[in-house]
Amino acid sequence: MIIDGEAAVTPAVLEAMAGTSDPRLKEVTAALVRHLHAFIREVRPSEEEWEFGVDFLCRIGQANSDTHNEGVLFSDAVGVSTLVCLLNNGNDGATETAAALLGPFWRDNSPKVEDGGSIVRGPTPGPRLFAACQVLAGGKPVADARVDVWHSSPEGVYENQDPDMAPMNLRGQFTTDAEGRFRFTSVKPAGYPVPTHGPTGDLLRAQHRHPFRPAHLHFLIHKPGFKTLITQVFVDDDEHLESDVVFGVTRALVGGYKLGEGPAPDGNANEWWSLDYTFHMEPGEARLPVPPIA
Ligand code: BEZ
Ligand code: FE
Repeated sequence: MIIDGEAAVTPAVLEAMAGTSDPRLKEVTAALVRHLHAFIREVRPSEEEWEFGVDFLCRIGQANSDTHNEGVLFSDAVGVSTLVCLLNNGNDGATETAAALLGPFWRDNSPKVEDGGSIVRGPTPGPRLFAACQVLAGGKPVADARVDVWHSSPEGVYENQDPDMAPMNLRGQFTTDAEGRFRFTSVKPAGYPVPTHGPTGDLLRAQHRHPFRPAHLHFLIHKPGFKTLITQVFVDDDEHLESDVVFGVTRALVGGYKLGEGPAPDGNANEWWSLDYTFHMEPGEARLPVPPIA
């Protein structure tokens, strides 16, 4: 088609795509073009600015590796991951535990650990954490669910970010018992800055935003017949609860960590903490996400 001025571009593109046979793909790509063109009309980027924008997207792709997912990080830092998560999950905690973004550090292959076992796989100084959790649906135990747990060290790094940490440190896969319970020992996670070496870091600096996440544990709970629950449980008094760089904190997910009194359950920790938490699942589709890193 001959383009008769800027106003003709959007209808021409929509018409060119009109033969898309997959109805959802057609709907999504048409909305993308409409919104993208509206964005361009509002912002009116110069050609130089547009080149900068395209280069920014290319740099997101180039920054990816087996151990780092810049695409997920960018989506997280601009609030899109949390928006997708909250649009697809939950009813403000009325019947199911609020979901929270997966983040870029989940691995699909963390080692299986027996109930009550430790996920500390190498020297990891810091206060011990003893967690006792239960998974319910409609008030009844969810037995035999797969529960992935992963978190940062007390120094605020994940094992895949630190070559000196034991592989798979602070990661484990549990199976709930007949009462839907699982327990584990670990160390208390610390808050941490998200990786800022790539274009997402450039954006945060340009926006004068700090890069920190409040301390949390990640959980992914999976059982056929139930909607997979992906969430995080945040440490009560973290200074960044109100300003999480990736907007992951909802009120229901804060709390439950208690400073231990007296001897630790394993008898050899100085400072120790406990966490009791009950997760509520809903019937639905059990799908596993695509792992952001290998
Ligand atoms: C995380 O919680 O692991 C995370 C989420 C978003 C960006 C970086 C890390
Ligand atoms: Fe995290």
